[in-house]
Amino acid sequence: METSAKYSIDKNEKIKTTLDKIYNLPALPDIITEALRLLNNKKTSNQQLVEIISKEQSFVAKILSIANSPIYGLSKEVSTLDFAIMLLGHNELRHIIFVVSFLESFRGGDSKYFDQNLYWLHSLLTAKLAKRIAQDVGYGKSGEAFIAGFLHDFGVSISHRYFKNTFIEIREYIEKEKCSFVEAERIHLGITHSEIGGYLMERWNLPVALRKASLYHHNPIADLEDPFLPSIIHVADYVAGKIHSESLFWEDGFVLDKKVFEVLRVSEEKQEDFISKYENVIGEEQDLKGLII
Ligand SMILES: [Fe+2]
Ligand SMILES: [Fe+2]
Repeated sequence: METSAKYSIDKNEKIKTTLDKIYNLPALPDIITEALRLLNNKKTSNQQLVEIISKEQSFVAKILSIANSPIYGLSKEVSTLDFAIMLLGHNELRHIIFVVSFLESFRGGDSKYFDQNLYWLHSLLTAKLAKRIAQDVGYGKSGEAFIAGFLHDFGVSISHRYFKNTFIEIREYIEKEKCSFVEAERIHLGITHSEIGGYLMERWNLPVALRKASLYHHNPIADLEDPFLPSIIHVADYVAGKIHSESLFWEDGFVLDKKVFEVLRVSEEKQEDFISKYENVIGEEQDLKGLII
């Protein structure tokens, strides 16, 4: 009894310390604020969009390489921003800008404990799958699903970057105890990467749908208000995990919650086919690797 009371005090202290640190993290980088502003402002003209992006050459190159990647599967080579807008449309381009602004702001910081490239690859795969699933199950905002998929594990990258010592403890603990990443996070950080992502997005004022997609991606049914988008991300995350040629330690222990099929209105006899058809969506995982570095 005494031990469990002490454990709960320690645990609460740990959660509080972690949350304090999250709320003291740097503000959202300017480049992302700008991308977010663009995302929310549907009236930006094509010309304005091109002008804003053209300020950063590395940005232009990255946007074009994503536009030309298997994510979009365009039949023509896109060599200019004007052409990208013409082929992809204003909306798609704004989503790519948002993704690139994250890639540019948070890339680097590799360590032997966390392969950033693999992490971004998983984020892009989940984004692509989430968008496809959203379109298939009739979720009207497939672009939002793309971004929610891209950001779902953002808490993992944040905890590696800002809670490095604890992150190392977590990795060592997983090795020793053979437990899931989420269990080890609960023990060492007090909270999980889903919660870290959700809290940080709240602190950064990102749209509620994105916050909730991160917060509930491992347990979508816990979103009592509207589990639809978290369910899409849950399935996308699961399928992405199956597609990767390398295993991702932060996905270890991920179990597909079959209740999501009810939410997404997929009947029992169609569930297996529903999952397997997405396993071939990307083509070769290898084709996405060039996008990250
Ligand atoms: Fe996750
Ligand atoms: Fe994931």
